[in-house]
Amino acid sequence: MSTEAELKQQVAQRRTFAIISHPDAGKTTITEKILLYGGAIQMAGTVKARKSKKFATSDWMEIEKQRGISVTSSVMKFSYNDFEINLLDTPGHQDFSEDTYRVLTAVDSALMLIDGAKGVEAQTKKLLEVCRMRNTPVMTFMNKFDRECNNPFDLLDEVENVLKIQCSPLSWPIGMGRDFRGIYDLTSQSLRIYHNLEKKHEFETIPLKGLDDPKLDETVGNEYADQLREDMELLDGAGTPFTKEDYLSGKITPVFFGSALRNFGVFEFLHRFLEHAPEPQAREAVERVVTPEESKLTGFIFKIQANMDPSHRDRIAFMRICSGKFNRGMKLYHCRLQRMIKMNSTVTFMAKERETLDEGYAGDILGLYDPGIFKIGDSFSLGENLSFKGIPSFSPENFMKVRLADPLKGKQLEKGLVQLTEEGATQVFKAVASNDHILGVVGVLQFEVIKFRLQHEYSVEGVFEAVPYTCARWYHSDDDNVLKKFEERYIAQIAQDVKEKKIFLCNTTWDLEYAVKKFEGIEFYQNSDHIPV
Ligand code: G4P
Repeated sequence: MSTEAELKQQVAQRRTFAIISHPDAGKTTITEKILLYGGAIQMAGTVKARKSKKFATSDWMEIEKQRGISVTSSVMKFSYNDFEINLLDTPGHQDFSEDTYRVLTAVDSALMLIDGAKGVEAQTKKLLEVCRMRNTPVMTFMNKFDRECNNPFDLLDEVENVLKIQCSPLSWPIGMGRDFRGIYDLTSQSLRIYHNLEKKHEFETIPLKGLDDPKLDETVGNEYADQLREDMELLDGAGTPFTKEDYLSGKITPVFFGSALRNFGVFEFLHRFLEHAPEPQAREAVERVVTPEESKLTGFIFKIQANMDPSHRDRIAFMRICSGKFNRGMKLYHCRLQRMIKMNSTVTFMAKERETLDEGYAGDILGLYDPGIFKIGDSFSLGENLSFKGIPSFSPENFMKVRLADPLKGKQLEKGLVQLTEEGATQVFKAVASNDHILGVVGVLQFEVIKFRLQHEYSVEGVFEAVPYTCARWYHSDDDNVLKKFEERYIAQIAQDVKEKKIFLCNTTWDLEYAVKKFEGIEFYQNSDHIPV
């Protein structure tokens, strides 16, 4: 096979995605079921065990153990049928970091998991917004139908109204809770029937010749059969039909119903996902668009994780391959440092343990041991100058000032803060007027993580003090006069990020709205990527 044909085939086989959900919606449970299909784990309970702290490899940080949550995300790679699937985990705890957002810049599609009894929850909303920023195609799984859930039509309405995305169901529940009979697969027009709900959880597929097929009544009973006919009629009239094009452009979300716990409906989802979800897509760099089938290797770093293994105290940078073929030991051009670097120790993260990766293609994630030369957003090539776009800093929502208990440790504090910023654990701003270090994070738990790490890794006792800010915006104007006036007016609230881009720290959203109105010539940005260069 020619190199070009091989690359095309490898790319077509790959699917790189993440699951977004609110805590407790069942992400761990469905991940486990998906991995079971892929044979990546042998036993139910493996992923769960990791979550409940019995899993040594991911218990890399004391604080993670104490909290019993996953502070950082990881990557799981597995094969299923002819596909190579990369599932990127997004931490689901309500206090999550920018990591969660950044993981979404490295995927080609996402699965939105919703607890059918709770509907759309806060975290899901935030994460979906990030997907929409990049028009990432999203499939939806309405979970926990083995329990009493909201009416399926109400759930669809809620997604459409709250998340502003049209729903197109590809499966439909028959009953719920104790009366959960199974699902109707709209694509194949077949029933997946659920037996022995309380006991063995067996299921069976029954093809139908249309909804008038008497087999429907025989299988689920007249009442449920009539209900399904009625539901389908309503969907026919008022629902949004599925087209692959609308899904791929992020206009609609195909919806599935089921129960992750009972492994019901997950199989249907996985198959439709592999059929429709996009293969690795072209990526935009400042210089040009890079397509996955190009022969030369390129990639970018979207996440850095420290001390995954306490006995090594290493940092690992996660690189998404955007094009070409990776072979172990090959040299890559570090575009920011403008030099070639040998990639000796690369790892991939199988569901269970780290393994060395010998080859990789677009869509795959490489874990690179980082001797301290990588930053989030760094681009790699075989010599070409490239700078991939779309790995932005998101405007933080929580702020604290950090000062030293021991003023002689200024250097360690600077070093610690620089490294933690490179890893994306926090953003550090230097107040222009006072030189104070202001930390900005997306989730408040990050403050605890940073405090802990400053103390344990850099021997710095940081004193964290409250500041009145609640939101921040980068800003830009071509009109120097307006800028000058604005900065004079808000001198105490202006700071610089590590790239020396100015940011406006606002006390309230009212503060921001006022400034937006008063200084019309200035554009404010939630996302540092949007600032004109
Ligand atoms: P998360 O990763 O999104 O936080 O959620 P996780 O999978 O841990 O699931 C949260 C809880 O919801 C767990 O119960 C899990 O068993 C339950 N769950 C997940 N999917 C389903 C489902 O389809 N049906 C039902 N009935 N429950 C589901 P838990 O009591 O917190 O934990 P455990 O004691 O079951 O381990």
